[in-house]
Amino acid sequence: MPLFPDYIIREVAEKNDIYDVVSQTVSLKKTGSSYIGLCPFHNEKTPSFSVSPRRGIFKCFGCGEGGDVIGFVMKNENLTFYEAVSRLAQRANIQLPEIKQKDAEQAKRRKEKSDLLHAINKDSAEFFYNNIKQSPQAVEYFKKRQLDARVVKAFWLGYAPDGWTSLFDYLKDKGYTESDIYDAGLIRRHESGRYYDYFRNRIMFTIFDANSNIIGFGGRVLDDSKPKYLNSPDSSLFSKSKNLYSFNVARHSKKPFVILCEGYMDTIALVTAGYDNTVATLGTAIGEHQARLLAKNFDEVVICYDSDQAGRTATNRAITVLRSQSKLKISVLDLKAKKDPDEFIKTYGKDRFDMLLAARKPDMEYLIDYFGENYNLKKSNEILSYIADLSEYLKLVPTQIELDVYANIISEKTGVQTSSIIAQAGMRKSGATSKLDSTNTDVINVVNKGSLPTNSKEYLDKTRALLLSTLFYDSKLFENYRHQLDISMFESSIHRTIFAYIDECFKKGEKVSNTMLLSRFETKEEINAVSGILAMDVQSDDTAHAVSDYINQIKQKAGPEMALQLMKEGKISLEEFNKMINNKG
Ligand code: UTP
Ligand code: MN
Repeated sequence: MPLFPDYIIREVAEKNDIYDVVSQTVSLKKTGSSYIGLCPFHNEKTPSFSVSPRRGIFKCFGCGEGGDVIGFVMKNENLTFYEAVSRLAQRANIQLPEIKQKDAEQAKRRKEKSDLLHAINKDSAEFFYNNIKQSPQAVEYFKKRQLDARVVKAFWLGYAPDGWTSLFDYLKDKGYTESDIYDAGLIRRHESGRYYDYFRNRIMFTIFDANSNIIGFGGRVLDDSKPKYLNSPDSSLFSKSKNLYSFNVARHSKKPFVILCEGYMDTIALVTAGYDNTVATLGTAIGEHQARLLAKNFDEVVICYDSDQAGRTATNRAITVLRSQSKLKISVLDLKAKKDPDEFIKTYGKDRFDMLLAARKPDMEYLIDYFGENYNLKKSNEILSYIADLSEYLKLVPTQIELDVYANIISEKTGVQTSSIIAQAGMRKSGATSKLDSTNTDVINVVNKGSLPTNSKEYLDKTRALLLSTLFYDSKLFENYRHQLDISMFESSIHRTIFAYIDECFKKGEKVSNTMLLSRFETKEEINAVSGILAMDVQSDDTAHAVSDYINQIKQKAGPEMALQLMKEGKISLEEFNKMINNKG
């Protein structure tokens, strides 16, 4: 008896990030690609409650509770499914078809308000743009910075005049109220109660959200006075930590990587030179939310920060933050003697920037060289400090193989044994995987890999679960291996239902949704078990290889009946059949 149509439930689940929702009530700590915290559903002192934002799943390895974001809200706030979906829809500003009149009105008002604030910002951007012509100093400034009319227009650049209420008056004339203009972050209130323009005598940079709504501005002084930039205040509309400059353009880029730089001017210079895949943070260090946004849209982030010490420190920080996205490749660009990408491209042009790009270093290689500059690696005490510095970053490397690669490079530079470097990095020492409280180890990963049952029936079921978990989140892999897969490979009804669901989505060309899958199960036990499977983090560098291994193990160990069945159905050759029979148990 579905109360809401499937597409609404899907949308509600997709637009509510499970990490954001859970972290409102549970304090979470990052471990690998997931987060852990103290389970809100049972009493515990050591955390065994895990949340995987990438998979949209939570799972407690202590009490067994698990589910998606809707399930979490239901359990945590003791709500019905209907109530939880309504709550989350409201949170994400999604209009529900069947919600109560009162809620619908509230949501409508909120939407109207944000539309209104977007409109005020758009009118302001136009005001700033139209002001350029009347301000010789602005025209002069754009000329000095080599920003021609085409660029000024494309980026909605402008000029905020020197008066105290120019924009305020303009917007009031347009019919907007004082309080709406204030909410849009465009005026400040003086002690006397009077309002005055937030941005005065500044070059204006218009900031868009991912959907190209105007949400704020950055304003730069025309000289060397301070503060150099003033940004719109954070509000219901504008959040510096959640948006990125020019992301609305970059997300449509066909390039697989994104160039991350520090400033508005850098972004404009690079986009103008043809790198539509460029973004900048908005005057704050890059945060988790922005990292996730980039990981969802690109395979790789090329950090291209200023070459001064502040830029280099920010680079190291950015690496740490971006490493929280386990699938994301990170590399660093070296601007050589130039201050920032803007200056580089204006001095040397696009061809030489292309050469820099081609020479970008993977993040860990960059750090190995960066810290190498600080130490004399002929002295033992400095070698120790060097490795200690690097360990802070090696900890973030999610796979053994990657860690080995870098440990080898460091070993060659220092003469220290690879195994000692790995040990110093504080992870994956023998035995470490059986401990749940190891801070740097992914709990889910540990549970999966550390407790593989030896009993062959249990082992097989675990393998099946790992196979399903891997395939569920990788439709490409599913497609590639579909011809080797069959429902007969799975025994339990839970496994069969999951397989059938993935297959159904694949045939319909639809994206799988854990929420939709969970809705096929009724009992709490089933939902917890399915969540456990979805939460399995199969951290293999070569998932294709892992899948092929799982399939072989299942086929080899599942007994002759299955082999016979598979051969009868023409799914395997006689040769493969013989192999399966001979290798069994
Ligand atoms: P930069 O000082 O490197 O500025 O700060 P820029 O963009 O390269 O500009 P030019 O070339 O000097 O004119 C980088 C970014 O940091 C934020 C802005 O977002 C800026 O683009 N910032 C900087 C502030 O928010 N406030 C400031 O006072 C300075
Ligand atoms: Mn700069």
